Amino acid sequence: MVKKNACIFISGYGSNLKALIHNTRDHNFPINISLVVSNNSKAKGILHAKKNSIPYLIINTKKRNFENVILAEIKKYKISLICLAGYMKIISKKFIKNSGKKIINIHPSLLPKFKGLNTFERVLKNNEKKTGCTVHFINDKLDSGKTIVQKSFFINKGDNVKVLKEKTQKLEHKAFSEAIIRIYRYN
Ligand code: GRF
Repeated sequence: MVKKNACIFISGYGSNLKALIHNTRDHNFPINISLVVSNNSKAKGILHAKKNSIPYLIINTKKRNFENVILAEIKKYKISLICLAGYMKIISKKFIKNSGKKIINIHPSLLPKFKGLNTFERVLKNNEKKTGCTVHFINDKLDSGKTIVQKSFFINKGDNVKVLKEKTQKLEHKAFSEAIIRIYRYN
């Protein structure tokens, strides 16, 4: 099987990146991670790239041309798939159009519910029975593209933000890889 080259965008801890790196070791998994992009030079996730000898790019989003810098690297590494794994910057319409690549994102709620930030707080405030995560394609509206995989769990009495986050991330680490397999097996 010829694997596709993927680029993972991160901003922080990188637990989703870590799970993806682990799964790329399986020769049946459809992608290799060829590049990691971070907008935060202090992101812990960069360590996962370093440990696994994956090239990484730290971008300065204050510079006007930063998206062009990313686009050039995406071309250089022949990237087919861009995965936003906790990337805390909005991707511009221009970038989506100019990259011409599949771009997917992971979001910690059952979209279309709770788009945007502070999802766990809002889930609890709204007395939801269930929550979970969604992997979806990116379009030009925030957290609104077509869903690829969604996973959910029932909320227990007494679950707080920390517990919801832990339970959601556990599901995310499976959902992201399942979505990638789905994209290349069934699309
Ligand atoms: C994840 O929970 C994801 O849903 C959200 O940001 C978080 C990133 O976590 N978009 P990590 O950096 O992968 O640990």
